[in-house]
Amino acid sequence: MSSRSIPNIDRFPRLSLLDGPTPIQRMAGLEAHLGASLRGVRLFVKRDDHMSLGGGGNKLRKLEYLFGEAASEKADTVITVGGLQSNHARLTAAAAARAGMACELVLGRPVPRDDVDYERNGNMLLNDILGATLHTLPAGADTMAVAQARATELRAKGRRVYVAPLGGSTAVGALGYARCAAEIVQQAEALGGLDFTKVVLANGSSGTHAGLAAGFRALGRPASTVRSFSTLLAGEDARGKTRELTAATLALLGLDATLSDADIEVDGTHRGPGYGIPTDAMIDAVKTLARTEGLLLDPVYSGKAFGGLLADVKAGRYAAGANVLFVMTGGAPGLYAYRRVFNPAEEEE
Ligand SMILES: Cc1ncc(COP(=O)(O)O)c(C=O)c1O
Repeated sequence: MSSRSIPNIDRFPRLSLLDGPTPIQRMAGLEAHLGASLRGVRLFVKRDDHMSLGGGGNKLRKLEYLFGEAASEKADTVITVGGLQSNHARLTAAAAARAGMACELVLGRPVPRDDVDYERNGNMLLNDILGATLHTLPAGADTMAVAQARATELRAKGRRVYVAPLGGSTAVGALGYARCAAEIVQQAEALGGLDFTKVVLANGSSGTHAGLAAGFRALGRPASTVRSFSTLLAGEDARGKTRELTAATLALLGLDATLSDADIEVDGTHRGPGYGIPTDAMIDAVKTLARTEGLLLDPVYSGKAFGGLLADVKAGRYAAGANVLFVMTGGAPGLYAYRRVFNPAEEEE
């Protein structure tokens, strides 16, 4: 076994949805902008927003394994759940189109918004263009219960239905990010033996953090290489969920799943008032990265996480010479649903 491959991962069926490794780039424009406040830290970005299918984003890595499982069950229809502006839902619709399967999306309202941008633009517009059948539910509805009931109804008509979980975050979905950990280690070697002190990202349903943490552990590196900022659950709840899912992913790979509290680093201080609710730090982070690097973060996940990274750097969390890698997880279509947050002076039409 090479130290750069995840043991046993090739036993799991995978439908290829990516175009090969996503780039790792140095953020030289951002570094120049931060100047002395950077204290000699080097900032890199893993471009997991840079994928050709359906606008790209982190969910495609999980969907490679979820669709692998669906195909091995000979499914002809995939159903998944999420909020109205779910990137996971949009990318499930895109992956289903690629795989030649029907897609149904059961979408709830976890964010208290009912304006036209939120209801119709961004991911909602794309779901429709991608040909998914949409079921939109009122606030507080149990999307997974409705998805299961719909699956039962379709199965009774002879369809073969696969139900994908919220955010694609099961141990099977997290395998996609265990594989990404190996990709990062290989790229770091190719970049002249770079050692990433931390890999920083947003935490929603926790599968991305869990997959990376399991992957680094499987490669003999600390699971605590990963640091995430929770955007959905309160910090402690997100940490508990991430720990459970990391252990489940390691167990699925047949590896030792013992984890300590220190292995799972989740920061809950950048979520703000709640999921999908903008913060000033998010708006500042989105504009800063756009104006220094030309890169588009999203307003719900990576914008808040990047705000956290900028705050950490300014607070001197990293030592001079540290290499910090931010994982850009996609979701830029969500910006269109947050038009008025970025242009508050504009009148609603
Ligand atoms: C753009 C984007 N970034 C980050 C995340 C967080 O990923 P995870 O749900 O695996 O924690 C999500 C999904 O929830 C997302 O859509």
